[in-house]
Formats: sequence, structure tokens, C-alpha cells
Amino acid sequence: EKGGYDWFMLKEIAEQPQAVADTLLGRHSADGRLQLDEMRLSDSELRDVDRIIIVACGTAAYAGLVAKYAIEHWTRIPCEVELASEFRYRDPIIDRSTLVVSISQSGETMDTLMAVRYARQQKARVLSICNTNGSTIPRESDAVIYTHAGPEIAVASTKGFLAQIVACYLLALYLAQVKGTKYGDEISDIIADIQQIPAAVQRMLDDGDQMRKLAADLAGSRSILFLGRHAGYPVALEGALKLKELAYIHAEGFAAGELKHGPIALIEEGLPVFVVVPPKGRDQLQEKTVSSIQEIRARGARTIVLAEDGDEDVVPYADHLVRLPKVPTLLQPLVAVVPLQIFASEFASVLGHDVDQPRNLAKSVTVE
Ligand code: F6R
Repeated sequence: EKGGYDWFMLKEIAEQPQAVADTLLGRHSADGRLQLDEMRLSDSELRDVDRIIIVACGTAAYAGLVAKYAIEHWTRIPCEVELASEFRYRDPIIDRSTLVVSISQSGETMDTLMAVRYARQQKARVLSICNTNGSTIPRESDAVIYTHAGPEIAVASTKGFLAQIVACYLLALYLAQVKGTKYGDEISDIIADIQQIPAAVQRMLDDGDQMRKLAADLAGSRSILFLGRHAGYPVALEGALKLKELAYIHAEGFAAGELKHGPIALIEEGLPVFVVVPPKGRDQLQEKTVSSIQEIRARGARTIVLAEDGDEDVVPYADHLVRLPKVPTLLQPLVAVVPLQIFASEFASVLGHDVDQPRNLAKSVTVE
């Protein structure tokens, strides 16, 4: 049943190219128009949306944080991401023109369900992104986009995360189409880029041995940090979460730009720090991230740098270099997270932990 893998988690990591492809399948027509068949909100209702609030927990919330960058960029609709467990307790300002997007793999997470119920009581429209047909959250929502990742058995979410990001992107492109902030051919171009992702993810899987060796090398570490910028920031958070929950060590994700506002004080000789480097672009984020790597390395950090093919600037500062296929900035999280998932599962395995059933955790958290 584990398909030859030692753990369900490894099997599910390996299924990610398929999870992405299946989540895209049948969602866009040849003329570039998107069809989201579980969309029970009319185009005119969607045109009225002037604010988006994503509510979710854990890994699903990090998928939301990634999606925020794409949603705002493509649709120009302000988007906030809020932990479902915080959302309804802060008296949020929502009304009929607010679209609340819940993200949940299981569709049963109590915190997320309560946020959905609260949002509907406040007359917001609720669209849920979910991997489980017929589960409670989609049943209580105005509209649903199902991720087609297939069942996730390992407690730690992996393929669910990639599929959630893809579903959010489909939603963003649909909104962009309805709102007229992107034209058909631009949308088709972005879809064509997303269609390259399964092959790019496959390459990260094929390169998995590098992560296995690294996990064995770093197995004595009691603390590991993760840095990212822009859409790579939530990838850093997710890399740290995977390691906490599976390896039971201290792991933290930071925005690289925040280093000098505090976290750099943590850097000491030999501390492993993963850094996700954004693709080169007009925004200088790649250059700024490279200087962050220089700063932490000068203070003794052992740097594990994830950077795209052809980025030679990082080479002098990387103790370990993980190459990423060249993809557009907003799609980089879909490839960059894969080695971090492999690293966390291998690290836990080296320590002799149960990779599929980490201590103290449940697959779906049906209590608040
Ligand atoms: C982390 C993990 C959890 C879940 C969270 C939400 O690996 O699995 O953080 O992402 O409990 O679960 P769902 O998506 O089922 O609502």
C-alpha cells in the first residue's frame, strides 16, 4: 500500500507531480477561459469582491501565504491571510463583498470550520479549497474548488500543500479574468507556466539523494533555521514546520529581510541555515538575499542555499547548493518546498522517528 516506499509521506512527496497535474486537469479550455465547475458563485458576485481573507491552519495557512502574492499581483484585490484560530476572535471587518477563502486538506479542521461558519454569519461569501470530497467545510461553503491530490495519509501534509497553492492560483486567475485585470492570453501563458511544474517537481524528486545525504550529515543539529523572501518566505515557514513536527527539533522560518531586526543574533558557528533565493528579476530580491547569505555566513552559519540554475552569485557563500529549475518567481515555492519536505522526512527517519505518525499530532484536528 505504500507503493514500495518506507513511509506514506515519501510516497505522497513522490506523488506531487501528479497532484499538481490532476489539480490543473480540465480547469482551462483551449480559448484560455477558466472553468471552475464547483464554483457556485456567479461572475457578477465575484466581480463585486473587493477583499479576500484566506483562513486556514498550519501548512494550509502557509499555502495561503504563498497564494497571497499571486492573488494580489494578478487580481489587484487586497488579500489577507489569517490563522483560522485567530480570525473570528478579533471581530474582523467583513461584509457581502468580502470573499473568505478557506483552505483545508481534510475539510474537517475545527478551527477552519468555525471560521467558515463565522464568515457566513457575517454575510461574507465563502469559497473553500479542499482535498476531501463531501467533507464538512465544503458542504458549508458557498463554493468549492477541490484539489485533486488524492488521499493524504501521512500526518504531515505534502502533496496537499502543492495542490492547495495550485488551486489558489486557479482561483486568482479566474478572478483576474472576471475582473478584467488579466487578458485571456496572459492567463493562458501563466497556465502554461504552471503546466511545467510537474516536470520541475519531478526533477527535485530525482535530485532527492542530495537531501538524504544532507539529513544524515546534519542529524546531530538541535536547531535549524530557514530564510526566504517574497513567496519564498512562506516556503521557509513550511520547511521549519515540517522539521518541527517530524524531527522534534527547534526549527524556525524567517523573512530574510528581518534578519537584522533580531534573528541574526541567533546565528552561531555551525548553525545550519537554509536559504531560498528568489529568481533574478527587476526587484533586486535575489541580490538582497545573496547579501543576507553573506551576512550569516560571516557569522559562522552553515548555509544550505536553494537557488535557480545559472545563479552563480550564490556559489561562493553556499556550503551546500541545491539547484532549482528556472520557473517564474510566483511558482518557485512549488519546487523549492520539495527538497525541504524530503529533508524533514529523512532527518526524522535518521533519528528513528515515525515519519507518518509524529508524536502528539493527528491528521485532522477536529477539536478547537
Ligand atoms: C502540517 C500539517 C498541519 C495541517 C493543518 C491543517 O504538516 O499537516 O499543519 O496543515 O492541521 O489541516 P487541514 O488542511 O486538513 O485543514
